[in-house]
Amino acid sequence: MKTKICTIDPSRFCDEQLQEAGKLIAGGKLVAMPTETVYGLGANALDPDACLKIFEAKMRPADNPLIVHVLSPADFEKYADVSGQVLLEELSRRFMPGPLTVILPKKDVISPFVTGGLDTVALRCPSHPVARALIRVSGKPIAAPSANRSGRPSPTSAQHVIEDMNGRVDMIIDSGACEVGLESTVIALKGDEIHLLRPGFVTVEDLKEVTDKVIVSSAVLSSLKEGEKAASPGMKYRHYAPEVPVTMVEGEEEKVFAFLKEKLLEGNGVLCFEEDLPLLSSFETKNRLISFGSKNDLLSQAGKLFDSLRKFDSIPVPRIFARSTKRDELGLAISNRLLRACAFDIITL
Ligand code: TXA
Ligand code: MG
Repeated sequence: MKTKICTIDPSRFCDEQLQEAGKLIAGGKLVAMPTETVYGLGANALDPDACLKIFEAKMRPADNPLIVHVLSPADFEKYADVSGQVLLEELSRRFMPGPLTVILPKKDVISPFVTGGLDTVALRCPSHPVARALIRVSGKPIAAPSANRSGRPSPTSAQHVIEDMNGRVDMIIDSGACEVGLESTVIALKGDEIHLLRPGFVTVEDLKEVTDKVIVSSAVLSSLKEGEKAASPGMKYRHYAPEVPVTMVEGEEEKVFAFLKEKLLEGNGVLCFEEDLPLLSSFETKNRLISFGSKNDLLSQAGKLFDSLRKFDSIPVPRIFARSTKRDELGLAISNRLLRACAFDIITL
């Protein structure tokens, strides 16, 4: 398949520019689109055949459900049963449109192919102007997982999407880098409780402003136990991984630096903070040292993490050792992705 690459400036474009992409979506084709979190691989959510193509293009396991993107929380009731959802209005008012996905009981219009056979559906209203325009112009709700090949780091630029999807999808829209850089926060609502299944830009601290009953799934910071059922199927797969194994290194700063220096000299790669570069870098090792943002700037880490992990694919190293970050606020989402990239392989010094 020939993939058309289409550049659309998110700050000044007109709907006419999106007509072709909108027709592709309405005609059952695949279009990779920018969102404020990461790039998504979009198809008409009401067309099961089109959604099946997403699974093929990504090589995604069929039981891992897709998020359906709509313009407004008022559209949720078309696809999900929202009756009795006491927290939904407040969550919508505070966080939508934006990087928050809500799991709700699905209605019959949503095919089980979209939901991986589950009787719930994930709904989200993106805030990115190009994603919104594509939903409007196509006239369809858009099912879109992150536009990476399954298991790879999510794409935060069109270049990442091209690496993984060129020749596998009909169109890739290039609107530059994604603002957040990590996927949306995924929550399930159970009465007056919020269950956090995947942390993201909307943090636990933010959600606690709506209710103090925020329950963080154990799978957020640890691997599933043998036989344990995943609340969110995506949590059971290896994810976000570069081509070689990654190990997280934590503990006393001095010991961590000594260890990383040794591993660099042995020919490995190191993923570190901006501030670590002058401390770890030497003439022989500088090309194997990549930073994922500043130590105390979680926003910069979120924005750079996936790009930094992908950069290692073009550097021949046998293994990558990665620094760990804070685990509160946005740090919970960053740690969640990094721990999965490491397949929970952690060395504590
Ligand atoms: O920011 C995002 O959420 C991006 C952009 C493109 O919107 N999308 C994204 O999709 O990250 P994906 O498919 O890569 O991740 C969706 C996650 C998966 O872990 C999936 O298992 C979970 O949401 N999920 C989807 N539907 C679910 C459901 N009905 N119940 C539980 N988890 C669900
Ligand atoms: Mg994904």
